Amino acid sequence: EFMNGISEFRVLESQIKDKLQLEYVIIVAGNSDERYSVKEELGKACVQFLNSILTSKQTIAVTGGTSMAEVANQMKPLLHAPNCTFVPARGGLGEQVENQANTICAQMAKKANGNYRMLYVPDPLSEESYQSIINEPTIKDILEMVHDAKVVLHSIGDAFTMANRRKASDNVMEKLRAGNAVGEAFGYYLDEQGKVVYKVRTVGMQIEELKQAQHVIAVAGGKSKAKAIQSYFKQGKSNVLITDEAAAKELLKGD
Ligand code: BG6
Repeated sequence: EFMNGISEFRVLESQIKDKLQLEYVIIVAGNSDERYSVKEELGKACVQFLNSILTSKQTIAVTGGTSMAEVANQMKPLLHAPNCTFVPARGGLGEQVENQANTICAQMAKKANGNYRMLYVPDPLSEESYQSIINEPTIKDILEMVHDAKVVLHSIGDAFTMANRRKASDNVMEKLRAGNAVGEAFGYYLDEQGKVVYKVRTVGMQIEELKQAQHVIAVAGGKSKAKAIQSYFKQGKSNVLITDEAAAKELLKGD
């Protein structure tokens, strides 16, 4: 069993687990909005968790963002899981190169002694190119791996933080405002009820497909992400949350 030591946050972890209906919750101390070292701890906890669940030759689909980049930073050779392959869960989504899933997958694979595949798609994508791109043999191959991935690693973002970072158009911003978007994951913008307000058009994993995976692990911390985390799990098919103390306490407010 993972973390047989006694966690400082055992009670908090079980409260979050009940509230969000999860199988497993890991909480690290502090607030990652305020201290970068807290994000490093989230990364370490995630790597440790992966080490406890991964077996050989598995495919791990990974999203982008700074939390995932930190998981990659903390990655170590996966001792029980040789020959794993990291694949990007979705196309670029408008992120800068260092925050893109492609970049993060390559780094994770290098440090884990695993393999990786890239998903080269223009971003954003018109409806026309979308249809032809998903039928390209090399893209099709990778998309199949993504859809079959047994492990999915992702983060969750605050809707407007993400839209600004991705330089969303005025038109998209208007949709997010009108729909009261609070959270974002996998390119889906969600309102407080977890309803999809807007979706970035790019290839790769669809939220409905998460059901096929065995382990869907969300790594998201910081007080500012509490609402986003809550909205995602209304929709969400993830079964593990790795978060920090500040997000967890904020999530329980008003209960
Ligand atoms: C990514 C997700 O993993 O992380 C996004 O694909 C999410 O949907 C983002 O919003 C959050 O980014 P960060 O930098 O806060 O980890």
